[in-house]
Amino acid sequence: MQDAAFGFHDLAPTEESFRDAVLAGLTHEPKTLPCKFFYDSRGSALFEEICLVPEYYLTRTEIAILEEYAGEIAAHIGPNCRLIELGSGASIKVRILLEALPAPAAYVPVDISRDLLREAAAQLAGDFPDLPVIAVCADYTRPFQLPALPGPPGKRVGFFPGSTIGNFEPEAVVRFLRHCAELLGPGGEMLIGVDLKKDPDILEAAYNDRAGTNAAFNLNLLERINRELDGDIDVARFEHLALYSEEEGRMELYLRSLATQSATVAGRRVEFAQGERIHTENSYKYAIPEFRALAARAGFAAVDTWTDPAELFSVHYFRQE
Ligand code: TRP
Repeated sequence: MQDAAFGFHDLAPTEESFRDAVLAGLTHEPKTLPCKFFYDSRGSALFEEICLVPEYYLTRTEIAILEEYAGEIAAHIGPNCRLIELGSGASIKVRILLEALPAPAAYVPVDISRDLLREAAAQLAGDFPDLPVIAVCADYTRPFQLPALPGPPGKRVGFFPGSTIGNFEPEAVVRFLRHCAELLGPGGEMLIGVDLKKDPDILEAAYNDRAGTNAAFNLNLLERINRELDGDIDVARFEHLALYSEEEGRMELYLRSLATQSATVAGRRVEFAQGERIHTENSYKYAIPEFRALAARAGFAAVDTWTDPAELFSVHYFRQE
């Protein structure tokens, strides 16, 4: 593989210690574990499986919206854009945009996962030989700077699909979008995928599929602790719990202890009461006006929003006010 086909900028994101975060979370009242640690190689594979289970409508619905409205989105973006994807992963969804865009000036995938980023950038550069690809290895949840981008000056457009924004607290959404505004500069625009509020039964089914893929994904966090931190947690005595909170407008994901039990993790003893929960993630769901109001606080004005016919998912296009 020749690296010359794409640029690679390593901003050396500092790896937060898994050990410190796990011990802090498991000794906290109530217990928590940070959701970013879901994605070891087993977790990433399980998440890809979740995206294919029939109940998890998010991924396929967002892809359908992008496909249906690619022409309209491309018209808003216009020619010579620099498309900057935050958390680009395998760079799958962006292909729909790149195929529709008139002469994009550059694609800038940003991801914390160095190997995945390198592989995805190489593949994309091979498939779009005329497109400059400049990969940036960075933690996009913290402020960072973009390298100089090639070509004539053109609009910078941020792409943040997958409703990953729903995993931030609402105040963190505002902070994150303010950072995006800085990163993109004046005139920069954003395309963001956001899961919509809906019948809680549909939501709870999406996060609790019959095949048990969501459960395996959530429980993998405990298995990862056992694998990497010399733990002896009895994973069979925990269950996956996915509940919609009407009040908070979010899915809440937990691991619940089925027994009074203790475990050792990185040499430390941790106790669990029967029924005790470990909070692993929130996934906020937004009505269109709610999300627009949050974006407005970061200086972004809605240009257009697209949804699927069943109004399960939304894709928002924003410009700076
Ligand atoms: N970011 C995904 C989401 O909010 C993560 C996710 C899907 C998840 N299913 C899960 C997290 C089950 C914990 C448990 O949709």
